Amino acid sequence: MCIRDKLYLDGPYGRRPGKNSSSLSQSDGYTVSLLTIDEYLRQPVAERLPYYQREGRLYHVMMSQQFPRPLMEEIFGVANTLKAMSHDYEGLEFLSRLLRHKRAMLYFTQPSTRTFLSFLTACQLVGITTGEVQDPALSSEYKGESQEDAIRVFSSYFDLVIMRDPKPGFCEYIAYRQDRTGFSVPILNGGSGKDQHPTQALLDLYTMHRSFQRMGGISGKRYAFVGDLQRGRAVRSVMYLLANYEDLDFYAIAPKGFQISPDLQLHLGERGVRLHFTDQLNEVLPEVDCIYMTRVQDEYDLSGESGKIDLANFSLTEENVNLLPKHAIILHPLPRRQEISSGIDANPRAMYWSQLRNGVYIRAALLLYIFGKNEQLPIIQEKSRS
Ligand code: NCD
Repeated sequence: MCIRDKLYLDGPYGRRPGKNSSSLSQSDGYTVSLLTIDEYLRQPVAERLPYYQREGRLYHVMMSQQFPRPLMEEIFGVANTLKAMSHDYEGLEFLSRLLRHKRAMLYFTQPSTRTFLSFLTACQLVGITTGEVQDPALSSEYKGESQEDAIRVFSSYFDLVIMRDPKPGFCEYIAYRQDRTGFSVPILNGGSGKDQHPTQALLDLYTMHRSFQRMGGISGKRYAFVGDLQRGRAVRSVMYLLANYEDLDFYAIAPKGFQISPDLQLHLGERGVRLHFTDQLNEVLPEVDCIYMTRVQDEYDLSGESGKIDLANFSLTEENVNLLPKHAIILHPLPRRQEISSGIDANPRAMYWSQLRNGVYIRAALLLYIFGKNEQLPIIQEKSRS
């Protein structure tokens, strides 16, 4: 039985047509009943995870929980090699041939600068041809086509869909639906509402990994997370990923009502992370090895709740930045607002510009990994802070 046939029959996907479920017609007249998005997401994460793999290998990239430490560190190694090979013409020429036979669709229905461009550049680095829709008003969605149908169209033309959408869990649901059509392609989550942003988390961890290479690594360090810890998908995904390491202290510095949500707190507790909650930034600064700053995600406000936050209490300035130990690093997924003064950009602790450059290598490494091309690269060890 081929993988495609097996997928129709296995696991949470297989189901008799129910009252509220919809169905997809197969070309042979065979109809598959489908769960609704709510039904699908109601299944525990642990049960959904196996469906994002093929033959034990990463296939759809949906959430940080898919990346155990050995896999993550393998991807870091590939990213190191890509970084080293990108410095000269021969290296770039070699890389650009690796996935020349693949095409990727970038489908971004929520604003993006970095993630979109970083994926685009990553595709170009390894030779993938790209197509894009960033404004549904310019696609047939304007004529009333569903997003599910739009993505079904993409999967007919492309070998991979990279998407961002404001609805939490929607990328996962799309992967589920797409797998049921018989024309499955890997789907990569480039940001799913307030939920997760796994590739951002990978590049964040890669930056920590490189920064702490000569300081004993990521384990055993103290991390501060500042700002909107409840609705920031990047910071959520980072915490999930970091929890793969040992002996960690997390200082969660958030305004009232914007603290880490209970599901994530539970996960961190189960992984043995020592969690400290506070809204006193300056007291924490001297204690930490890494500070992860975030923007208040006011696009998700229901009634202007962000407007009540005193942002000065959750900002790094040219004054308080020097309370950090000298070796500490400052990260931010960007875009930033006032939470990091631009006067700090030249501070040796500021790693957010390196962090964003690392994103291209991590995403390209992920693409190579998904298509099984990572093994064709030489192993190159790199030693540097960024
Ligand atoms: C983040 C996002 O979109 O979640 N940005 C990014 O992808 N680099 C963070 C944010 O928008 O605050």
